Amino acid sequence: MGRRASRTTTSTRFGIGDATCLLGGRRCRRGLDAGLSLIRPWRPADHASLVRHANSRQVWLTLRDQFPHPYTSADGEAWLAYCAKQRVVTNFAIVVAGEAAGGIGVAPQPDVHRRSAEVGYWLGEAFWNRGIMTAALRAFTVYAFDAYDVIRIFAGVFSSNPASMRVLEKTGYTREGILRRSVVKDGQILDQVLYAVTR
Ligand SMILES: CC(C)(COP(=O)(O)OP(=O)(O)OC[C@H]1O[C@@H](n2cnc3c(N)ncnc32)[C@H](O)[C@@H]1OP(=O)(O)O)[C@@H](O)C(=O)NCCC(=O)NCCS
Repeated sequence: MGRRASRTTTSTRFGIGDATCLLGGRRCRRGLDAGLSLIRPWRPADHASLVRHANSRQVWLTLRDQFPHPYTSADGEAWLAYCAKQRVVTNFAIVVAGEAAGGIGVAPQPDVHRRSAEVGYWLGEAFWNRGIMTAALRAFTVYAFDAYDVIRIFAGVFSSNPASMRVLEKTGYTREGILRRSVVKDGQILDQVLYAVTR
């Protein structure tokens, strides 16, 4: 995917990780230190905490329907199997107090949008409003610009989600516009607010 990714990926993994983490050109083994959390690839051992934190209607309500609800054990297995197969790692666990409490990742875009990536993130309700995602997104955005060959990172936020808008604003993303009545979620038609940061 990225310039650096294709240059350095001789095996199957690239990114923040146990063995090969390139961060600002430096290798680190532990993961990305985001201050209040650690960002690292998903591991099979995360299954129980993934399902525990992801199985939340409050978390699901402001995410796309592709994020399952209820979030079953099988959903957790499928997600971890998918992540384990990623040739270029783009999805990561957010580890708080030793457990995988949420996720963050980028989706590279195709064709003429190929130097853009959409960022997505969620955190278990137990950890909300402690500044964890603000710190995680700040660190991850720096990482993503470095790791993937992108010049634009964007997020689409449902108009029902002021907390996420606040996170993006605190992290330096710019509110670019509104995609009016573009989302159907939980039986409601919502606007989507577009945020982006470029370099
Ligand atoms: C959105 C989400 C990631 C925020 O994570 P978090 O760790 O609680 O975020 P932070 O604590 O870093 O920041 C939250 C900010 O929103 C503010 N906030 C929370 N609820 C709010 C509300 N109802 N109205 C306005 N602001 C609100 C907080 O006060 C805080 O801002 P502040 O630091 O200026 O006080 C988390 O709520 C979540 O996972 N939600 C479900 C999934 C989701 O929406 N993902 C994003 C999709 S775009």
